[in-house]
Amino acid sequence: MKLTPLNPHFGVAVEGLPLGDVTQTHLYPELRALFEEHSALLFRGQALSDQQHMALARLFGPIEDRKADERKAGETFEIPKVSNVRTDGSTTDEMEEHTLHLKANFLWHCDSTFMPAPALTNLLVARVVTETGGHTELASTRAGWAQMPEALKARIRGRGVWHAYRHSRGKISPELATRAMFNKWPDQHWNAVWTNPANGREALYLASHSYKVDGYDEAESQALIDELIGFCTQPEYVYSHKWQVGDVLIWDQRAALHRGTPWPYDRPRTLSSICISARPVDGLDALGRIPEPV
Ligand code: OGA
Ligand code: MN
Repeated sequence: MKLTPLNPHFGVAVEGLPLGDVTQTHLYPELRALFEEHSALLFRGQALSDQQHMALARLFGPIEDRKADERKAGETFEIPKVSNVRTDGSTTDEMEEHTLHLKANFLWHCDSTFMPAPALTNLLVARVVTETGGHTELASTRAGWAQMPEALKARIRGRGVWHAYRHSRGKISPELATRAMFNKWPDQHWNAVWTNPANGREALYLASHSYKVDGYDEAESQALIDELIGFCTQPEYVYSHKWQVGDVLIWDQRAALHRGTPWPYDRPRTLSSICISARPVDGLDALGRIPEPV
């Protein structure tokens, strides 16, 4: 196996670990150890089928299903697509709601912090890529938190933070924020720091969905959230991934923020995305246990 750093602080490109061959007992222990240690893993030239993608994802935990409540009897789970391509092959218009929703992905976030079980990881597989733009960027909240001035850390440490899907969508379009799909779950309250139970490493846990920090009003909260995310997304903590078909990017949402970047919207772009829900064994219990008010 060959590892090449993606960024001096985090992330590795992995060669010699064919993802189609991974099972619970064969290679998953190695894969999981790399995930815990490096926070972001890139595999090039993988020809994963949808079935292989699902099987690989399942090894990390339960597959997230945001549409479980919308599905009619007999309809099965389909791998979610991050895509601007309609079923007839045309691309969605820049200002239509679906494109606005994709644009909300350009805000730094962790996936599903607004769900009762937020995502542990996202396994993204490139299906259709653009020649320009459409990168996916990752920022290490583990490295950023470790190097953050103590005075800034002290303003958030030990506090709980509220998260809601509508909040990130509202930053792009207040209309969009009112849609049912962005108002399905009760607002979630998580610790501002996620401690990885496998190695004890801490990371800042905030997202575009975060809107209120305990002990601050909403304006103070947003300013603090923006400052903290701003610190962790300085260029030195960021890896920007330019996609090739066959790439698989897997990252630890407990230790990294991510965002998409714009592309020419008349060009098709499709990534298959499977999120895995975090469990107590991933540190979720502790994330939901907020210390007594400071
Ligand atoms: C995601 C996501 C960004 C992108 O799949 O969760 O935020 O680059 N994607 O499309
Ligand atoms: Mn995302």
